Amino acid sequence: VVSPKIAPSMLSSDFANLAAEAKRMVDLGADWLHMDIMDGHFVPNLTIGAPVIESLRKHTSAYLDCHLMVTNPMDYVEQMGKAGASGFTFHVEVAKENWQELVSKIKSAGMRPGVALKPGTPVEEVYPLVEGETPVEMVLVMTVEPGFGGQKFMPSMMDKVRALRQKYPTLDIEVDGGLGPSTIEAAAEAGANCIVAGSSVFGAPEPGKVISLLRTSVEK
Ligand code: DX5
Ligand code: ZN
Repeated sequence: VVSPKIAPSMLSSDFANLAAEAKRMVDLGADWLHMDIMDGHFVPNLTIGAPVIESLRKHTSAYLDCHLMVTNPMDYVEQMGKAGASGFTFHVEVAKENWQELVSKIKSAGMRPGVALKPGTPVEEVYPLVEGETPVEMVLVMTVEPGFGGQKFMPSMMDKVRALRQKYPTLDIEVDGGLGPSTIEAAAEAGANCIVAGSSVFGAPEPGKVISLLRTSVEK
């Protein structure tokens, strides 16, 4: 029921050649392109925003899986929708009060809503968002502290994935941070089906092989 989605994180790509990098990943079998949007406040790093999504959209029809590591996600819904984002995943840590309004706005703007949680956030905090009247359609379990690519996978986060998969058999569950050939088994076994991978894909001599290996692990 839950199909694998392999999402190379474009944070590890050559930003000066983003259109070509996106095409390369799609040609190598990527299902989604993971776009990390950081505001230098929610996380100690700055990356890209809606203007870059808008530029990239002119060069690809791929699903742009946007991960908003920002303190005020509501401020970016409209512009991200207009820019051509496909998925809009916000962090539960900054949407405790207004998540229902946020999810409705994301849907009205034509995007698929998702919720992410940092390693220190208990999984129970996202349950109401999955069970709400206007529910999120994906949960992103961070397997590193958000902010940077190339960090070490935290296997203890698999308890969250397992709990989510047990409760929600058909939910899209995404893992992000430190995923690659040596960690995919743990994530797949726990029940994740959407796999973000930055450094392991872009750093490989044959990125297409890594993408296929990730997919095979999720499928079995
Ligand atoms: C980290 C980002 C990730 C990051 C993953 O804050 O959310 O998407 O790019 O990179 P790797 O796969 O290298 O850990
Ligand atoms: Zn991410």
